[in-house]
Amino acid sequence: MKAFVIFACVCAVAYAQFGQVQRTSQSGNQQFGNQQYGNQQGSFASQQQPARSQSAGSCHELNERYPVSGSCDRYIECINGTAEEKLCPDGLRFNPNLNFNAYPCQYPNDYQCLERSSLQPPQPTADCPNQFGYFKLGDARNCSYFRNCVSGVGYDFTCPEGLAFNPDTYRCDWPDEVAACDAEAFLGFRCPEIPISKELGPPAGYRFYRSDESCQKYFLCIEGRPRALACGGDSAFDDLTSTCVSADEVDACPVELRNAAARARKEEKEHQALEQSLSSLTPQQKRRNY
Ligand SMILES: *[C@@H]1O[C@H](CO)[C@@H](O)[C@H](O)[C@H]1NC(C)=O
Ligand SMILES: *[C@@H]1O[C@H](CO)[C@@H](O)[C@H](O)[C@H]1NC(C)=O
Repeated sequence: MKAFVIFACVCAVAYAQFGQVQRTSQSGNQQFGNQQYGNQQGSFASQQQPARSQSAGSCHELNERYPVSGSCDRYIECINGTAEEKLCPDGLRFNPNLNFNAYPCQYPNDYQCLERSSLQPPQPTADCPNQFGYFKLGDARNCSYFRNCVSGVGYDFTCPEGLAFNPDTYRCDWPDEVAACDAEAFLGFRCPEIPISKELGPPAGYRFYRSDESCQKYFLCIEGRPRALACGGDSAFDDLTSTCVSADEVDACPVELRNAAARARKEEKEHQALEQSLSSLTPQQKRRNY
């Protein structure tokens, strides 16, 4: 996947450069204010016409944006043929591949900008390392907290239970898939080692274990790494079937939960019986019943 993204980026850049070069040789009298295309082209263009003002580039189309050479957050924006150099807010990256009507600055997970590395100096605040972005909080044992920075103001969030913030993707992922997270320490569970049986060969790829803390929680071990899951409502994890069943069937559950589950089941049964007796009055039911 990463290889594909890199490949796609490289292609996009190659295409953009090719497209620009084509346009230069056609129009001939325009010059690139930025140095993206190397000295050779620059001198070629300046032979045709003396250099224009340096900082802002020139426009090949009335409305367009293109990157400033080597920079990941500076770009030239042409509006009605007038070029102006612009800068993305601190923490964001200029993405040249977007439609002109779209806002051109994106989070680094959306546009990695591998080919242009320089950035404006960060403008940290007491809350945030950059003005904009998503940042992991906590440490490798405490993986679910992250901060969204908007104009240097931080807003804190927590991933859904059992998930870890992934700073590479800006998503909440399974902790075993987040490099910066110690999944075992974070979840407080280490998958038991399964002895390899002579008769049965290596163990199956995954196994379930009920949590010692809660009969409703359980762990899924995939190749020895844990993921935390939970049964919803009044259900609890049944060791024998490795499924969620009504909590009154699970001895490990506290008595209040078991009673609540039993009550809910009884009510559900009564409700169903009532529905059935009501619907038996319809002609269709009558036909089915008699
Ligand atoms: C661009 O030029 C057109 C035609 O001259 C004009 O109507 C429009 O307002 C201009 N737009 C901007 C953003 O300057
Ligand atoms: C985990 O990190 C959060 C955010 O930094 C912090 O508020 C919380 O106290 C930490 N918890 C532990 C157990 O370290």
